[in-house]
Amino acid sequence: MGDKPVVFATRKLPEAVEARLVRDYEAILNPDDKLYTADELVEISAGADAILPCHTEKFTAEVIARLPERVKAIANFSVGYDHVDTAAAKQRGIIVTNTPDVLSDATAEIAILCMLGAARRATEGVALVREAGWKDWSPAFMVGTQTTGKRFGVIGMGRVGQVAAKRARGFDMAVHYTKRSRLDAETEAALGATYHATIEELLPQCDVLSLHCPATPETTGLLNAERIALLPKGAIVVNTARGAVIDDAALIAALKSGHVAAAGLDVFNGEPTDIHPAYRKHPKVFPLPHIGSATLETRDGMGFRALDNLDAIFAGKEPVDRVA
Ligand code: DGY
Repeated sequence: MGDKPVVFATRKLPEAVEARLVRDYEAILNPDDKLYTADELVEISAGADAILPCHTEKFTAEVIARLPERVKAIANFSVGYDHVDTAAAKQRGIIVTNTPDVLSDATAEIAILCMLGAARRATEGVALVREAGWKDWSPAFMVGTQTTGKRFGVIGMGRVGQVAAKRARGFDMAVHYTKRSRLDAETEAALGATYHATIEELLPQCDVLSLHCPATPETTGLLNAERIALLPKGAIVVNTARGAVIDDAALIAALKSGHVAAAGLDVFNGEPTDIHPAYRKHPKVFPLPHIGSATLETRDGMGFRALDNLDAIFAGKEPVDRVA
């Protein structure tokens, strides 16, 4: 090993990102894209000055406690960092960064896809065609919910939420939102967005509810039975944030009763293998496998942003996206 810092990339990264990584650092790569266990993460980190992980690697307090002294940074390839115990990292003096901005467009696209897929019954439609169940057409056939001109509600009007709201405006939707700190008047006006001080005030205004808040102890199970009951009957629920923000049993019960007409979900509790079984075959659920940021442009952007953060850290500067 030479003088360059050693960076451990836990997953296979886009070609252009790995090219820059090996140009500027001693890189420990994962060409087989193996999902490492906690023990393997700790073992491989023994030779690293920094780790470049995805949300698939869980840096719990226990894992962080076992990392060698040498590890100075966890530069995530993700905007979400609920997979890292930031308090434990901070205590160890490990810098943690994320990759905001670069994935807002791609994730907002998936939010709109989830909205339309749920509202227009795409799961049922695809199954009818694929399984040769499509036998007829009539005015009553596959009638869904029109979103044009309806109300698009956002919980968590951050970067992704704002882009999703902008796209929803393209469907002439009226934007309603709640956020811990209200947007400035100019941004609010540009989005044509109506602010609600609480989630409880927002929910009755949502024909479509799109979740964009991070998973934190405060937002875990945020969309529970009491709150779902505040949605208008026949509302559509969209989640491209994290599975943890939804109480699955409550959403599934609301889909069964018809209070929620349909849900478009890109993220799940227990993903990828242990999601609530009711979601898998539910005709009113339009499910996607956590692909919000899955475009070439965005995945390159995420990798470059993570590397920008590492470059700053190893140059002794403050990384732009420091979260701990
Ligand atoms: C993110 O960046 O948080 C996406 O969910 C992918 O990890």
